[in-house]
Amino acid sequence: MKIELLEEVSSTNDYIKQYLNGGEDIVVCARRQTGGKGTKGRSFLSGEGGVYLSALRFFSAFPARDAFYLMQHAAVAVCCTAESFGADPAVKWPNDVLVGGKKIAGILIENTFSNGEVKNSVVGIGLNVNNELGELSQIAVNLCTATGKRISTETARDRLIENFCKIGFEQAQELYARRVLLGNATVVTAEESFSATARRVLPDGRLEVDRDGKILTLSAAEVSLKL
Ligand code: BTN
Repeated sequence: MKIELLEEVSSTNDYIKQYLNGGEDIVVCARRQTGGKGTKGRSFLSGEGGVYLSALRFFSAFPARDAFYLMQHAAVAVCCTAESFGADPAVKWPNDVLVGGKKIAGILIENTFSNGEVKNSVVGIGLNVNNELGELSQIAVNLCTATGKRISTETARDRLIENFCKIGFEQAQELYARRVLLGNATVVTAEESFSATARRVLPDGRLEVDRDGKILTLSAAEVSLKL
């Protein structure tokens, strides 16, 4: 896949959209972002030392109902990368990768849908490698701290791209299921929060939980989890 390396950009997800009409798959990486975007309108801390990467991919005949494959695939590419440096990552449904209970990477996917299909997808991944996390270190960690090793940002970036290109959707589905955290959780919705047991992630990406014996299927757009 074509790779473009940038020093600084507002957001690699936004930058890469200039190639939407090109029809060619491409990865854009930046050493830092000034306006890194997270999910649900949040920002993503993007100082020097992290990997900030977006991949633009074009598809023909990719059913919209399978769009969660893209998230699974990105999360698994991050897990395999972190694991290759000696970390033991887990996925917090749907899009965070944790090590030792702290967030090491986040994923933001922006798809273009038409006629029930995903036409193209921007998969944005932010991976903490040796960047300063400041106050966030209460809830986030970087790969160097997590593994106790010196890891260069470039090595981590190249390995992440390699895994991203190598891993297939089918393999990703299996590995995601193995890595996703299940069990006791607090489910937070706009109206309430309640305790439940996370049982499994359904193929369409919804989370199946047991709330006092009642089975619910939750969508990531409507709820968040505390584990
Ligand atoms: C999240 O944790 O809420 C998702 C974070 C996604 C961050 C990545 S960094 C590369 C790409 N560019 C962005 O602006 N966001 C994503």
